[in-house]
Order: sequence, then structure tokens, then C-alpha cells
Amino acid sequence: MMNLTTPVRVPSYGINALRYAIHVVAFCWLAWVYYLALNGSLDGDPVQYLLDFSGIGTLHLLMLSLLVSPIAMRFKFAQLMQIRKTLGVYAASYALFHFYVFTAYELQYEWKLILSEIVERPYITVGMVALLILSALLLTSLNKIKKRMGKNWQKLHNFTYLALILGCIHYLWSVKSDWYEPAIYIVLATILLLFRRKKIQKIIK
Ligand code: HEM
Repeated sequence: MMNLTTPVRVPSYGINALRYAIHVVAFCWLAWVYYLALNGSLDGDPVQYLLDFSGIGTLHLLMLSLLVSPIAMRFKFAQLMQIRKTLGVYAASYALFHFYVFTAYELQYEWKLILSEIVERPYITVGMVALLILSALLLTSLNKIKKRMGKNWQKLHNFTYLALILGCIHYLWSVKSDWYEPAIYIVLATILLLFRRKKIQKIIK
């Protein structure tokens, strides 16, 4: 049986391979689904499909990025932290694509209408706040900016937890009747946040 007190170390090419695999899967999957939608090869409404795929994809990637540090700590596997940023960058990219589908295909760049949807429909407002947080995290993910920001970088990146909560609320609010699927995401998000309860208690104080 694996001894959990022994730190796990793998050759650096192993972690790099995992990072490249995330790039390939996350990028190609989105590009492929978009291609099928443009080609008219998807069943049903392609805009709705793209919105659902990118919205759920954002939540999956965000949750996976928040799963990295509890696993790295549990198994003393510090190298695993290198994939956290890759997952986070794709979470923000999927969210931006989700917004793009909404503005370009659902509302055909009718900016007045887009603005009124953001202001008047609470589930869109909540999604928009989550998107703004993820965009700020994406912009500050470059190493140069991270160094320049010092301690403020960590303070800003603590907003990831709020983005996850808002993303789940947005999902729950967007569904008309089938609330059990969003409820599963809320339970998973709560577990991920419970892993960090001490840190979150400190932030709130
Ligand atoms: C981090 C930010 C966001 C996350 C995690 C997210 C996530 C989701 C999820 C999971 C769904 C439901 C998918 C399904 O039913 O299978 C959804 C639907 C939707 N989202 Fe977002 N979203 C985000 C931001 C936004 C923003 C900024 C907008 C628009 C300004 C937006 C507009 C919509 C719309 C229009 C739907 C479809 C609702 C329907 O089916 O009627 N979302 N989103």
C-alpha cells in the first residue's frame, strides 16, 4: 500500500505530458464542438448546445483546478501544482467562449439588448460577475504580472472561490425545472470549499 507520508515525485516529463494532455483535450474538444455547430452537425439547437457545453465545461475546469491543491497536499505531490494554472486558464477561456456564444449567436451583437439582459436578468448578472472575476484571474496569470503584484496576487486569486459559488448559482438559476443537476454541482463545490475552510474563514475575517 502507498505510504502517504512519503512525498510523491515523478520525472518532469511526466508532469509536462499531463500539462500538454490538458491543452490538447481542453482546446481540441471545444474547437471540435464549435466546428460541428458551425457545420450544422449537432442535434437540436446548436446555440443552446454551445452554451451548455461551454458553461458546464467552465464549471468542470474550475472544479478540477480547485481539486489540485488538496490532492497535492494529501499525497505530498508538489509537482502537481504545475497543472493548476493550465486548468484555470482553460476555465476562464471556456467562460469567455460561453459569453461569446451568448453575445454573437444568441443576441447577434445587439449591445443594448445584451446590456439590458445583464442588468435585468439576475442569473445573467451573477454569471457576468463570475466572468469578470475569471477574466481578471486570466489577465494576471502571467508570471511577470504575478511577480509585480506580490501579495495582492494571492488576494485577487482568492476570488476563485467566489467565482465558483457564483457559477453554481448562475447554473441553478438558469434551469427551469431540473434543479437536481445544478444541485450536484453545488454539493461538489461545497466539498471543494470545505477543504479550504480555514483559509476561507481567515479571508472572511
Ligand atoms: C464563470 C461564468 C459562467 C459559468 C460558470 C456559467 C455556467 C453556465 C452553465 C453551467 C449553464 C447551464 C448549462 C446547461 O444547462 O447544461 C449556463 C447557461 C447559460 N449561461 Fe452561463 N455561465 C457563466 C457566465 C455567463 C455569462 C457571463 C453569460 C451571459 C452574459 C451567461 C449566459 C448563459 C445563458 C444565456 C445560458 C443558457 C440558459 C438557458 O438554457 O436558457 N453565462 N451557464
